[in-house]
Amino acid sequence: MTMTEVPDIVGTENFFDGLSVQPADPLLSIIAAFQADPRPTKIDLGVGVYRDEQGKTPILGAVKAAEARLVEAQSTKAYIGVEGNGAYLASLKSLLFQRGGGDDLVAMQTPGGTGAIRLAAELINASSPHARIWIGEPSWPVHVPLSQAAGLQTLSYRHFDPVSQQLLLDDLLEKLETALPGDIVLLHGCCHNPSGADPSAEQWQKLAEVIIRRGLIPFIDLAYHGLGDGLDADLEVLRALASVPQLLLAYSCSKNFGLYRERVGALFVRTGSPAKNQAVASTMFLLGRMIWSMPPDHGAAVVHEILGNEDLIDQWHVELATMRNRLSAVRSAIAREPALVKLGEQKGMFSQLSLTPAQIEALRRDHAIFMAGSGRVNLAGLSLRDVPRFVEALKTVSTIG
Ligand code: LMR
Repeated sequence: MTMTEVPDIVGTENFFDGLSVQPADPLLSIIAAFQADPRPTKIDLGVGVYRDEQGKTPILGAVKAAEARLVEAQSTKAYIGVEGNGAYLASLKSLLFQRGGGDDLVAMQTPGGTGAIRLAAELINASSPHARIWIGEPSWPVHVPLSQAAGLQTLSYRHFDPVSQQLLLDDLLEKLETALPGDIVLLHGCCHNPSGADPSAEQWQKLAEVIIRRGLIPFIDLAYHGLGDGLDADLEVLRALASVPQLLLAYSCSKNFGLYRERVGALFVRTGSPAKNQAVASTMFLLGRMIWSMPPDHGAAVVHEILGNEDLIDQWHVELATMRNRLSAVRSAIAREPALVKLGEQKGMFSQLSLTPAQIEALRRDHAIFMAGSGRVNLAGLSLRDVPRFVEALKTVSTIG
């Protein structure tokens, strides 16, 4: 055969024969199913997006104002660098860490909170290959596969009982007593996804005590900051863990700034020693460069614009409080039903109901109520007007109530 002859293709094999059809993402598939349903009375309690009483997810006024300022002032779209927007990171750092967080804190901008979690998982694996990570059950459905995709070994603990609607703190503490020094513990900073069951300040202290005593590394997923009890109150986890030497924090601005599609997040790492900062930061930068190269700029620039301007911060605080107060009004309305009283005590967008797949299907088929197959409901999808219909539908299909 000469160099220019093409060899015969042997057989009919396709390069992609090794791939099979994957199940749809359990949360994102609800978006399509909801959109395809023609019933005007349909209710979307699926993916975690805030909605107002009219069912809209408006752009925050503070965001609109910041965008207008950016359009006016921004003079280039040239690359910003692998670390992302340093001013944005500094603004978030002062929002999150009292007294600046110490001189052993490093940060990197990421595409959304999920990007931060992926980067953290890769960083953990780079530092300690196949490290063990404890993830609560239930948790956000992406936590386990994402950790495994990065090479980590996942271990589970029971976090919550959907029947009693109770946080299972004792189970968690008991499990952590069996964890090995250097194990990672994934914690939802506030507004637990999917249960809404957050530890109290006292319970965070108990958790922190075990984490410190057993030499565990907390990895906090903070995606709903400000939507629980408020910007300061929602940082109880960081106060409790203030003396932990090493810690990772994945942050998302999707919900609290309503910047979902702009993909705005950050990973903060407390390294335990300023001497380690460069090794940790440069590894993060290298990993980021290998996965997404450089994070998108726009959303982070908007967040920095807001956090750097007193009027815009005030406006954001008011808008965030409006979202938070609406969520708690919906929770209070649901909690008037005695069997659902616990939902009134939970925080943030989500609660996890004890429903069978058949009951969840009946809610969709007979009542046009869409929720995750796990029984998770995004209560931000309910208007106050729809609460009675929702509660009645639950009573019709299940023994709740
Ligand atoms: C959710 O849990 O619904 C949100 O965090 C959106 C997502 O990416 O899953």
